Amino acid sequence: MTRTFLTGAALLALSVGASAQTIGFSQIGSESGWRAAETTLTRQQAEERGYTLQFSDAQQRQENQIAAIRSFIAQDVDAILLAPVVATGWDSVLQEAKEAEIPVVLLDRQVDSSDDLYLTAVGSDLVHEGRVAGEWLVGDVGDAECRIVELQGTTGSSPAIDRANGFRQAIEGHANFEIVRSQTGDFTRSGGKQVMESFLQAEGGGGNICALYAHNDDMAIGAIQAIKEAGLRPGEDIRIVSIDAVPDIFQAMAAGEANATVELTPNMAGPAFDALEAFWADGTMPEKFIQTESRLYTQADDPAGEYEARKDLGY
Ligand code: AHR
Repeated sequence: MTRTFLTGAALLALSVGASAQTIGFSQIGSESGWRAAETTLTRQQAEERGYTLQFSDAQQRQENQIAAIRSFIAQDVDAILLAPVVATGWDSVLQEAKEAEIPVVLLDRQVDSSDDLYLTAVGSDLVHEGRVAGEWLVGDVGDAECRIVELQGTTGSSPAIDRANGFRQAIEGHANFEIVRSQTGDFTRSGGKQVMESFLQAEGGGGNICALYAHNDDMAIGAIQAIKEAGLRPGEDIRIVSIDAVPDIFQAMAAGEANATVELTPNMAGPAFDALEAFWADGTMPEKFIQTESRLYTQADDPAGEYEARKDLGY
């Protein structure tokens, strides 16, 4: 690279007008309701701001994301949004974007690359989300013995790694809690159902499972179906705690079939575009991490009302 990124920023600020920017968006796929909402809101935000959005659906494959980014670089887009499916393996392509002086903003998931290879990352504290879920469970169960099954997100993705760690931090030191089964359901409803069926079978029908921790609501919803088909009551016989706060989990909570969820806002594009606009305007460098909120919702938080408020938001 012959120029520093900051020099590139200043040059870009001079060369790009206030609107008509073209943004390349490499999206992971459509594995969950949350992902669908993030895509919808990104399209809406781009339209409202007068950007042209080049959208690429990677269908869960990192190689498709890398190819999309290279194509965006070849088109000389004004910025790239990347929701990285896994945490590793991004150094080369991010370096290529940097050398082309195209700012990259990470959405919702993290990478293990040096943070000078991207402009900023918008997302939640994923470890904190797992901790919030675990602390809720510890508080709800108290001193009783609690055998937990865990549905993990996509293997190698930052939310799967961090939500697993945060949850373990919360139950650590509470000897009555034990994670007895843990497997990926790939963040999908069908994966959640299938893996929960195998958990129930392996655990003698599931009568001794106290709680399910799912890394997202979609897997929890699939698991709820499996639990019902096994003749157990989700939300009562087996506590359900998950992450995202999608409308369907509020419906399940209103029906007493899920207990708690930790919100992940799907509006990652709003803060990302705000940061890009400041950068384009005068080269302002944003914080390296723009953190979104993680709020806990339980059955006490008007789940029926939350469902109504969210059901038309693109999930
Ligand atoms: O990266 C965010 C996670 O990805 C969401 O929690 C999950 O629903 C999605 O697939």
